[in-house]
Amino acid sequence: TFTPRVFSGIKPSGGLTLGNYLGAIKRWVDMQDGAMETLYCSVDLHAITVWQDPATLKKGTREIAAGMLASGIDPETSILFNQSQVPEHTQLGWILNCVARMGWMNRMTQFKDKAGKNAEKVSLGLYAYPSLMAADILLYHATHVPVGEDQKQHVELTRDIAAKFNNDFGVDFFPMTEPVIEGPATRVMNLRDGTKKMSKSGESDMERINMLDDADTIAKKFKKARTDPEGIPESVEGLEGRPEAANLVNIYAGLANSSPQAVVAEYAGAGWGTFKPALAELAVEKLAPISDEMKRLMDDPAEIDRKLARGAQRAREIATPVLERTYDIVGL
Ligand code: ADP
Ligand code: NA
Repeated sequence: TFTPRVFSGIKPSGGLTLGNYLGAIKRWVDMQDGAMETLYCSVDLHAITVWQDPATLKKGTREIAAGMLASGIDPETSILFNQSQVPEHTQLGWILNCVARMGWMNRMTQFKDKAGKNAEKVSLGLYAYPSLMAADILLYHATHVPVGEDQKQHVELTRDIAAKFNNDFGVDFFPMTEPVIEGPATRVMNLRDGTKKMSKSGESDMERINMLDDADTIAKKFKKARTDPEGIPESVEGLEGRPEAANLVNIYAGLANSSPQAVVAEYAGAGWGTFKPALAELAVEKLAPISDEMKRLMDDPAEIDRKLARGAQRAREIATPVLERTYDIVGL
């Protein structure tokens, strides 16, 4: 049996979005106050699987940390750190590369989406990234990984890798990690195209709400968000087959700590001219204090770096014995 422990991370590959906040960070804050030990990470080694400008990447890591801190991650309660400062991630990552099978990687839908027709031209790192993600999780024997929908397949792969390792070496060393995908906003969609997820690396700024957007920008983006001619239905069933409408209701529910049912009940029959400004107002009310605090924290990068260094030290206290034991099991 494994001590319950939570691990999750975010790539510093651009500014934080409302999707990252509702699908991940906000729920990490809730879990931090539970009984489980919590580790949260800026996963910069994952960011470099696609080209990153070095100076922007350094700033991006601090922005991720500032976003977590400003949202309520307490660096004393949780272990908050930057992946590349704990070299054990890469070391375990290599071992898991030798456990994971090519066929498993070939089935990763996110790789297919990201590589597209360009699979010959993308980095080897992008292909192997799910195996490094398994290492991120298994290095801490994490039992629970709170993520958005888009990461479900990767957490399942982590279980496959853990099971094969345990089986190959005849040990019960790595846990069968559970993805924790809960709440109304596990898949926040792009505001311009309801079939794609909102992402920090998406093409147009209008398709996402950034954590650092000001009130006017947030209002403008929701106003321009794609919808359909019908407004808010009488019941949630009326959102079926209407991804853009469902998305705005889900975002509202996520921000209000409510449910789509309750939001629909409150706004039944309302048009978008009523709902969108209400949504914008709610978003500003929730996000403005966070973005103000993020800006304040980012004015003192040395202080963020100190917090991350301290977190990395604490993370290594857990990681070092796990890696040593792994080496021993493998015969290294
Ligand atoms: P991005 O796609 O924005 O680069 P990451 O890969 O860094 O996001 O993911 C960080 C966390 O945020 C993960 O737990 C992921 O599932 C979650 N997440 C990212 N985008 C969304 C979204 N649109 N809706 C819900 N959760 C999301
Ligand atoms: Na905790």
